[in-house]
Amino acid sequence: MIANEFIPKPYKHLLESGVVAYSAPSNIALVKYWGKKAHQIPANPSISFTLNNCKTSTMLTFERKTSKGFSFEVFLDGELQEDFKPKIEQFFSRIEAYLPFLASYHFRIETSNTFPHSSGIASSASGMSALALCLMQIEQQLNPDISKEFFNKKASFLARLGSGSACRSVEGDLIVWGTHTNIKGSSDLVGIKYPYAVHPNFKNYCDTILLVDKGEKQVSSTVGHNLMHNHSFAKQRFAQAHSNMDALISVLKSGDLTAFISIVEREALTLHAMMMSSDPYFILMKPNTLEIINKIWAFRAKTGLHICFTLDAGANVHVLFPDNEADEIQKFIETELAVYCQNGHFIEDKLGQGAQQIKI
Ligand code: PMV
Repeated sequence: MIANEFIPKPYKHLLESGVVAYSAPSNIALVKYWGKKAHQIPANPSISFTLNNCKTSTMLTFERKTSKGFSFEVFLDGELQEDFKPKIEQFFSRIEAYLPFLASYHFRIETSNTFPHSSGIASSASGMSALALCLMQIEQQLNPDISKEFFNKKASFLARLGSGSACRSVEGDLIVWGTHTNIKGSSDLVGIKYPYAVHPNFKNYCDTILLVDKGEKQVSSTVGHNLMHNHSFAKQRFAQAHSNMDALISVLKSGDLTAFISIVEREALTLHAMMMSSDPYFILMKPNTLEIINKIWAFRAKTGLHICFTLDAGANVHVLFPDNEADEIQKFIETELAVYCQNGHFIEDKLGQGAQQIKI
């Protein structure tokens, strides 16, 4: 697949104005993307669960203009957000070649998240995906021949140029991004639906997100990715991600939850180990992140239940478990883990099926 396939033919006509809207979910990586090359190409393949409840809804109102350059305003929960502008400006300039109508309109971007903005949950994946899908909806109006498959593929391609992991937030429920020899159709340019058998053990898999630290991260993921360029362990880490993907293919097929746990937790800790061993080094985990991890390990040893954790680039903990063990594990979270969360806050989520158009 080459990027040129996403450059559209000249449009026959442009619309004067309109409104489109999409909601897109967040996702949580099992094998992590950490390190990238130019043009948002990942240094290694990754795979994620698409979430169901944590999402961004975006409404895009557009109107023809004659002035040059991009013109847009962004609102979060009805409030104008000047500080979102540079990221969107950069996104528009990266994708203009693929959506030549961008400079012909003034856009009003109205967005809201189902999770609190200051929850420490990254809204860039769901946010960039929702915006990319809205833009694709405009493109579909200009070119009605676009198939559903191409629509999703290009939305993922565009979302990736906004925030890498956003390309995994278009479809559900297991998404692969980054070329891997043993995953047919895998690509550095777009997220694809995981193409092989998945054991029923993973159906409706649960993810309860423990909000340990709702503050702004001290080190952005852009900076973190860049620190992989001269990282002493980069080569080994990228090779490990490839072999963990291989191991996960067998586990997803067999339903071996013990092996699943071992891959997922190792990936989470390796991600943070990369941060702790980069130059300069940094730590995003907080004392309560470690308290939670230790509690999870002790509870798992005591009960034999298949609870495990994964981490994003932050202090919050994603607690993963199979649906049929949810009652006991949810009780454990409420009674023993919620105390480590800021204001006792956590979000119950599970595997989801991807983005949805919002009818206006
Ligand atoms: O999409 P970015 O640039 O915010 O990077 C996300 C990186 C991780 O969340 C840490 C891992 C991943 O694969 O989602």
